[in-house]
Amino acid sequence: METLTINGGMPLYGELNVGGSKNAVLPILAACILTDEEVVIHNAPDISDIDDMLYIMSDLGIKSRRENDTLIINCSGMTSYEISDEHVGKIRSSVVLMGAVIARFHTARLAQPGGCDIGARPIDIHLSALRQMGVNITYEDQCWNCSAEKLSGSNITLPFPSVGATENVILAASMASGQTIIRNAAKEPEIEALQTFINLMGGQISGAGTDTVTITGKSKYHACEYTVIPDRIVAGTYMLMTCGTGGDVLIRNALHEHNRALTECISAMGAHISADGNSIRVRKTRRLNPIEFTQTAPFPGFPTDLQPQLMAVLTLANGTSVIRENIYENRFKAAYSLCALGAQINIQVIDSQTSLAVIRGVDILKGAQIYGTDLRCNAALIIAGLQAHGTTVLHRAHFIERGYENIVNAIKSVGGDITAS
Ligand code: EPZ
Repeated sequence: METLTINGGMPLYGELNVGGSKNAVLPILAACILTDEEVVIHNAPDISDIDDMLYIMSDLGIKSRRENDTLIINCSGMTSYEISDEHVGKIRSSVVLMGAVIARFHTARLAQPGGCDIGARPIDIHLSALRQMGVNITYEDQCWNCSAEKLSGSNITLPFPSVGATENVILAASMASGQTIIRNAAKEPEIEALQTFINLMGGQISGAGTDTVTITGKSKYHACEYTVIPDRIVAGTYMLMTCGTGGDVLIRNALHEHNRALTECISAMGAHISADGNSIRVRKTRRLNPIEFTQTAPFPGFPTDLQPQLMAVLTLANGTSVIRENIYENRFKAAYSLCALGAQINIQVIDSQTSLAVIRGVDILKGAQIYGTDLRCNAALIIAGLQAHGTTVLHRAHFIERGYENIVNAIKSVGGDITAS
């Protein structure tokens, strides 16, 4: 998919289903490396980030196959610890292969990980934590070379609750000798999912979802069968899409406890939101209120992965809103294309890590030719195209395929006029 053509300005009505969480599946795939036995993972979305991860893993000698939304992974034939495939530069989560490969082989070689171009995204927190566990790490020939005579459990305090660093330490600690305690750990639901998965394989991990995670190293892990949690960012994207276009949409497999910061925002904007079991209904009948100030933060704060989508919705609010981005230094890239549609957004850089978007609500957005830059920017621009009157053509649309399975048909199913080409 290179371009999406959207004829917007109409409300959406109907039901949408949310698939499994991309950001839960990716570290869980790395955790499969802990066992030689065959692992079955259900509710794995068919998206390109997972394809890329499986491709990188195939280079390590790992076999995988997909049967609809089920992945079957077999790491018994692992032959290499060199994670240097050219795909490593495409996805950030390749970095968590490091912790799993070190756990299994006590050595690993990783090319510099990539991912969405939303900031520098260093891995210093990962490296510092692994070094505390006895891993010797050098950087040569654009690769991180890791080796550990002995992988030892350790008391590690993260300087920032990094999701990936928390996952990497959990993976390495799972086969280290002794106990590891991670303090200031990330509390995202995807960390809890990783804990559940590894414990199903015979692990002994506790505390995920809080800021202190305890892992007791084990020498052997066994097969398991696991069903992935719903993708809270896809669910949140659909909730914001409905707020932007107006209408009444029921979103199935959307866990309210995974999106409380967002639902508070949606209520503040004046849309109606109700949760019932694993479904969330969003209705928007009148012009939205602005949000005087909100900011992104680690879970349970407002997720940075929904910030561009919120910005798109606030372009039509009845007043001025301010969003402060605290996680990535370059994550307001959607603003440029939103302004091409007639939005009024001013970006102010605060310091090397944080910036502000001041969004003055306008009465209408008008279709235009716009350009995607990354996964969540494209999600925001699709929402904006659905809000805009007339025809919007989103170029470089392919980024959306990294994290949203079948999004064109999903939007069509609730009345959106969108075509891929
Ligand atoms: C995960 O990335 C998610 N990706 C991201 O989602 C998400 O935005 C992010 O967590 C924050 O919630 C996956 O799970 C695959 P971090 P991760 O380590 O682990 C800095 C999406 O759209 N940092 O919590 O890379 C870093 O630069 C993606 O699905 C360091 O400085 O996030 C960033 O500014 C985008 N040094 C901040 O911390 C480090 O060693 C958060 O990073 C590690 C991180």
